[in-house]
This record gives sequence, C-alpha cells and structure tokens, in this order.
Amino acid sequence: MKATVMTYGCQMNEYDTHLVESQLVSLGADLVDSIEEADFVLINTCAVRGKPVDKVRSVLGDLRKQKAQRGLVVGMMGCLAQLEEGQQIARKFEVDVLLGPGSLLDIGKALESNERFWGLQFKDELHDHIPPAPQGKLQAHLTIMRGCDHHCTYCIVPTTRGPQVSRTPDSILRELDGLLAAGVREVTLLGQNVNAYGIDQGARVAGIPSFAELLRLVGQSGIERIKFTTSHPMNFTEDVALAMAETPAVCEFVHLPVQSGSNAVLRRMAREYTRERYLEHIAAIRRHLPDVVLATDIIVGFPGETEADFQQTLDLYDEVGYDSAYMFIYSARPGTPSYRHFADLPREVKTERLQRLIARQKEWSQRRNAAKVGTVQQVLLRGDAFEPGFLEGHSRGNHPVVVPKALGADRAGIYPVHIGHATPHMLYGAVLGADGQPLPELPRLTPEAAALSAPLAML
Ligand code: SAH
Ligand code: SF4
Ligand code: F3S
Repeated sequence: MKATVMTYGCQMNEYDTHLVESQLVSLGADLVDSIEEADFVLINTCAVRGKPVDKVRSVLGDLRKQKAQRGLVVGMMGCLAQLEEGQQIARKFEVDVLLGPGSLLDIGKALESNERFWGLQFKDELHDHIPPAPQGKLQAHLTIMRGCDHHCTYCIVPTTRGPQVSRTPDSILRELDGLLAAGVREVTLLGQNVNAYGIDQGARVAGIPSFAELLRLVGQSGIERIKFTTSHPMNFTEDVALAMAETPAVCEFVHLPVQSGSNAVLRRMAREYTRERYLEHIAAIRRHLPDVVLATDIIVGFPGETEADFQQTLDLYDEVGYDSAYMFIYSARPGTPSYRHFADLPREVKTERLQRLIARQKEWSQRRNAAKVGTVQQVLLRGDAFEPGFLEGHSRGNHPVVVPKALGADRAGIYPVHIGHATPHMLYGAVLGADGQPLPELPRLTPEAAALSAPLAML
C-alpha cells in the first residue's frame, strides 16, 4: 500500500502524524509525497477555528472525486474527527477511516477492516507509546502530555483531545534517548499546557515531577537544546523560569499566550488570571532570563470586546514588547461555551482590530529583531532555504534565520551565526569559523541557473 498523510493544525498534530506514519510503515506501507501516488490518503485535521475546518471540507471534496475514479481510500484523523461536526463531514464525503486523537493506534485495525472504521475512544495505551525516532532530522517534537483540563470558553481543544494525561518521566526520557541516538539535537516538549505537567484533573499524580523538575531532568539527558510549548499563565510558576536559567540546554524562549489585555475579556474567556498577574509572570521570567525571547497568542474580537478592551491589549503588547505573536480573529466554534452564550462581533470590527494589532506586532518584532544585529546566535540550520544557495534555520530564541551557504557550512547543523540584518520576520547572517571570522561563501547560482540544474541534481 502507498500512503500519504496531510497535516493541518499545531505541532501536536505534526507529532501525531509522525506517530501514525511510523505505524503505517510498520504495517508495510510505503510513504509517498503526493496524493496522486497514494492508494490511502489520511488527513490530520484541526478544529480550533472555522478556517481549518473549511480547508478539510475542500480537500475532502477533491478526494471524493478520486475515490470514485480510482478507488482511493480516504481517512481523517485528529481533532475534527473527534467532533460531531467532523463526523457529519466524514459521512458527507464518504470517509472510510476516522481516528480521533485518542485512537491513533487503531490505524492497523482500521486498515484491516473491510467496512467503514471509526475509532473515537481515548485509549490509555497511547500515552506511553514511543514512536521510532525520525531519521536524518536535527529537531523533533516530544509530546509530554495529552489533552487539556482547562475550559477556556472559546476553545474546542478540551472536547477534541479530552482530559489531560501526563506521560511518565520514564517514558519521556526513553523517547528522548531514542531521539539522541538518531542524531536529534533540539527537542520541543509539547503539551496544551506544559506548566500543568503532572497535575491531571486538578491533582498531582503520584511520582510525577513538576514541569520545572522535568526540565532539569531532560536537561541532563545530553540533548543540546530544549524548547517547550505551550505555557499557560494560570499554571506558570517562578520555579520554571529558575529551572530554565539553571539548565543550559533549555533555550531562552517562552511562548506565554495572553489572549487579551483586558481583565473583563479574560474573565469571560475563563482564562483564570488577570492582566496584572500575567505581567508579574513576565517580570519573573525577565528577572531570571534577561535575554529571553517572548512570544504570545492573542485573540481579537472576542464577544463583547469593546474598543477600550482592545486598547488594553495594545497597551499590554507595548508593556511586554513581545518578539513575536500569533494573532487570531475570534472564531465561534460550535460546542464551546462562548458560542452558546455570547453574540459574535461584526466581522469588519474584528478584522480592523486585527490589522491594528498586526501593525503593532510588526513594529515590535522589527525593534526586537534589530537589537539582534551585531550579535552572534547559535543557529540550528535545518537545510536549504527557499532561495538557492542559502540555508534556513532558527536560533535558540526561535527567530527564523537565513544564511548563505559557506565553506564548511553547506549543510544542516548548529553553527554560530553573526547577525547582519533583520526584518520583522527574519534574521540574516553569516556563519562564523573557529577564528570568529565569517566563513567564505560558496559561489551562488542565479535562480535561473539553479532552476535549470535542479533536474540534473535529482539524477
Ligand atoms: N493550549 C494552548 C492553545 C492551543 S490553541 C494555550 O492555551 O495556550 C492555540 C491558540 O489558538 C490559542 O492560544 C488561541 O489564541 C487560539 N484559539 C483557540 N480557540 C480559538 C477560537 N475559537 N478563535 C480564535 N482563536 C482561537
Ligand atoms: Fe484551549 Fe485553554 Fe486548553 Fe489552551 S488551555 S487548549 S486555550 S482550553
Ligand atoms: Fe488544532 Fe487540535 Fe492543535 S484543534 S490547534 S490540531 S490541538
């Protein structure tokens, strides 16, 4: 069988795609890159906003044609699959296999079945399942917990992914050993709320360390760089900042979603912290990590958000001076409390506020990135950039970085890079040699010559 998995959504979904792909390989499937080559197409779906759901609808529409024409088998996994909304879509588009985020290990059973297979349970066996390490990659994700015990009123994730279950440190460390042995040098620990690691259903699970303790443990494993996402301000504690500062492998990067700068909105979102408390966390993080790079998530146009509320979000943005932000227009999701209880704001109001927020974010990203010009950053270069002759990667602070290929730095690796230029979204630099001087750049092909030579390079 030739199979391909298409991934939408967050890093959790990317991790789950890797997990399912490795199951498919162990079942004897060949993984292929395109739908045209595949006999089985599996879509890993996201349901957090309306847009990714619309995307799945349009992809399934195309796939249904191919089902009719050439007997393609179509599967849907991930968050949308868990929802009634997703199951209706699956029926409409004649999906053969449906796997919710808790049933991924049923993929074998699903493919053996001669009829439509729907797996929607949250199965315990998944939590300590260790997928084989990805091959030939310098960075990897590692899910340390699944699900979410919060009930932010706008959010569908607790419904799609179920209650929080933390993995044992033992299985996390075993997975990490495998990653290390496969040559991985940077690991991102994943969870909807990593700061609540070990506190499932509101109570500490016996024998499981706190997140700060886990960071220290993972920091001793020999892995060079550790990142984590996402942090929730409600469960953020100062000992996490301290553990970060005292564990050299943990990168100085914190993604702490604020969602809104207005206490009235935060209350209606049920975020369980105030603007003041949030700013105390930022102060504590900066106290322990003066060079920290800060990112956030913001929702604009939550029901009832007034212009004054929105101004408070802009003010908070200035007060923190974030390096980057994911900014979203509120999307009313069926099944969430805010969908049931609050009226949506007009679309124009939401879009206009988003544009103002994006403008503010750009100013700050430009300012923060410009401050990196002249510094040396340790950059994990993943591989070829979009432009021929360049490599791309990211710093410990998660800035995207582009460098020209140089003698001794023409492939993936971690290199010291002198930053020469910054835009709001990118740092540009040159790889330094052992003498602290930039390595000589390799001759660069013009884009036209590179396009011509590409087919030759593939032979
Ligand atoms: N567990 C993570 C978030 C996961 S969802 C956390 O709490 O930080 C990622 C982001 O999507 C959220 O931080 C939020 O900003 C955004 N989001 C979630 N539901 C949304 C909705 N209904 N409309 C718009 N954005 C939403
Ligand atoms: Fe959603 Fe809130 Fe849980 Fe994050 S913490 S996944 S926003 S319910
Ligand atoms: Fe989307 Fe599920 Fe992630 S809803 S954002 S794929 S947790």
